[in-house]
Amino acid sequence: MLTWSEDPATTQSVTWRTSDEIGQAFAEIAVSHRSSRFDLNATRLEAATERLEIGRSDRNQDRVDHFHSVVFRNLEPDTLYAYRVGDGGEYWSEWIQFRTARAEPAPVRFLYFGDAQNGVLSHWSRIIRAAYQKAPHANFTIHAGDLVNRAHRDREWAEWFKAGGWIHASLPSVPVPGNHEYGSLTEQEEERRVSLQWRPQFTLPIEAGLPESLAETVYTLRYQGILIVAMNSNREIEAQAQWLEKLLATDDSRWRVLTFHHPIFSSGRDRDNKERRDLWKPIIDKHSVDLILQGHDHTYARGHTPVRMSEESGPDVATMYVNSVSGAKMYEFMKDGWNVYRPEGVVLDRRGENAQFFQVISIDGGTLIYKAYTADGKAYDMFTLTKDESGKKTLYQGDANDLGEESSFENGLPYSREGM
Ligand SMILES: [Fe+2]
Repeated sequence: MLTWSEDPATTQSVTWRTSDEIGQAFAEIAVSHRSSRFDLNATRLEAATERLEIGRSDRNQDRVDHFHSVVFRNLEPDTLYAYRVGDGGEYWSEWIQFRTARAEPAPVRFLYFGDAQNGVLSHWSRIIRAAYQKAPHANFTIHAGDLVNRAHRDREWAEWFKAGGWIHASLPSVPVPGNHEYGSLTEQEEERRVSLQWRPQFTLPIEAGLPESLAETVYTLRYQGILIVAMNSNREIEAQAQWLEKLLATDDSRWRVLTFHHPIFSSGRDRDNKERRDLWKPIIDKHSVDLILQGHDHTYARGHTPVRMSEESGPDVATMYVNSVSGAKMYEFMKDGWNVYRPEGVVLDRRGENAQFFQVISIDGGTLIYKAYTADGKAYDMFTLTKDESGKKTLYQGDANDLGEESSFENGLPYSREGM
């Protein structure tokens, strides 16, 4: 599993899992070369190993596994590397390649997935694979929460890792936890805690100035001039608001993207996240964050703020908001779209129901191009957002919207509403 815990231009973090028979583990890395003996130049690093009792959750077998992680440091920017992980002796993974980020602003392309959550192996696998085929040179992937349905259930994480396979090993992920990544360990326990597996299996940044309970669930990454802010919409909403305000007040990245699970503007029927909206939206507005990528509502919604009051009333657009779903569970869209949020100054540009989506987002200089695709690879929605030197943004609605807005709510996979 590739993630970043430090600078994407000079480091790469990798995490893997074995049985507890492997007490000491290693990773090797070399600059990629056309010669098959590139491996002669490999450097070997010993892994940090963490023991995890999977059986602490009564949803799992009673077993103990080892999670190993290595941070490759002092890498050259914009360089193709090959790495492998193993026991240092007989047992190794294949050599897997990744490219470090450039050290300066440069074009970026990334994938975004709403909730995988249900039918992860049977139905989500086709989405992540279709996304990889659509954008094989993407730089990373964003997972906006609810990667699985039952926080601690190991079988579901096994499905998630199998669905992504070597894509997870080649393309770094930026995951945030959804409400389904929180749950009680046992029937008796009341406290809901983050997945047992979350911190062992993802090596992510730990931000200073945030409560310990948010470690590796709230973090920032800077990638070729873009700021990515991953937030945890489950916990400590107010503490994160203060942190976000400070972060955005001093950040000078040209483009800023936020991702978290519970949407500022709900699109699922009978759902709303007023507290999060009241605390976070004023900061998003104040700093004119460019793009908000969310999940949770098992529908598709894409809109923008602010509503344009007149020709003279400032920029056309400040922030683009997206809710999406990549897995197989589907909800009904709110009856009147986002009309209920009109007083908040938002317009719904495009909606969808009952389809699995993935997104490819490309940023080059002052232009951001967003494309949403359905599982069959067809474009469902697109827009272009431009930003001039003064920061003024202009929104161009795409013409890829040749598919009708899906409006049936009959073909999602069956699911239980328990614990949503
Ligand atoms: Fe959710």
